Amino acid sequence: MIVNEATRRLLITAGPTYEPIDAVRFIGNRSSGRLGTTLAEQAVSMGWDVCLLLGPNAVVPENPKITLVRFQSTSDLENLLQTHLPEADALIMAAAVADYRPAPDEVNLEGKRRREGGNLSIKLESTPDLLAACSKAAREDQLLVGFALEPKDRMISSALSKLARKNIDLIVANALETMDSDSIEATLIGNAERGIEHESSTPGTITKAEFAKWLLNQLEPLTDQRKSINA
Ligand code: CTP
Repeated sequence: MIVNEATRRLLITAGPTYEPIDAVRFIGNRSSGRLGTTLAEQAVSMGWDVCLLLGPNAVVPENPKITLVRFQSTSDLENLLQTHLPEADALIMAAAVADYRPAPDEVNLEGKRRREGGNLSIKLESTPDLLAACSKAAREDQLLVGFALEPKDRMISSALSKLARKNIDLIVANALETMDSDSIEATLIGNAERGIEHESSTPGTITKAEFAKWLLNQLEPLTDQRKSINA
């Protein structure tokens, strides 16, 4: 594929992480990756060059123009982001990254934990905040977008604090209530501290395909603005 200077390059993450306990068990979450995959498909149809980092057991996109790279754990995704972030104009972190994983001394990838009777406690350690790390590593001509899945009553306040804490450009706040659904109601909020004064909401609850178009239409001019910094 020929990529010219004007082509917008999107790096997008989607799906759950699986944090191994042993050779057969893991700690995961219910993300289907459907939103991220739909965004990747829509971006390609709008002419973006798209690399999708996709977690396990997620919906796989059909469009062969999408560069697809699979990951399992947060640590895999961390490494892939380090490799692929420099090639992107915009990053959308739609992956449902684990907040905790089994501590290294609890993990045995070669074997299988035996039942020993009684209760079992597994010590968990915090995972690194991947978006915050991307923000530290990113160039000033790159646009960083995160998601915040929150209960409706504190959706905006939590999203605003994540925007500041992770030091990213934009955050999509969406209601926890729409998880697992075909539709979504969301608000896109820009980080004024990083020069993006922006707030817009979807016209009520819309399909994930409509949402993808809605979001990318707003990200296009913002990505171009950032790209022009080094042009
Ligand atoms: N995220 C990340 N690294 C993590 C956890 C989350 O990069 N270890 C990203 C997600 O992909 C998402 C955004 O950060 O784009 C917000 O994720 P969320 O789970 O809502 O936020 P947390 O930072 O985990 O905060 P909390 O669990 O306290 O709500």
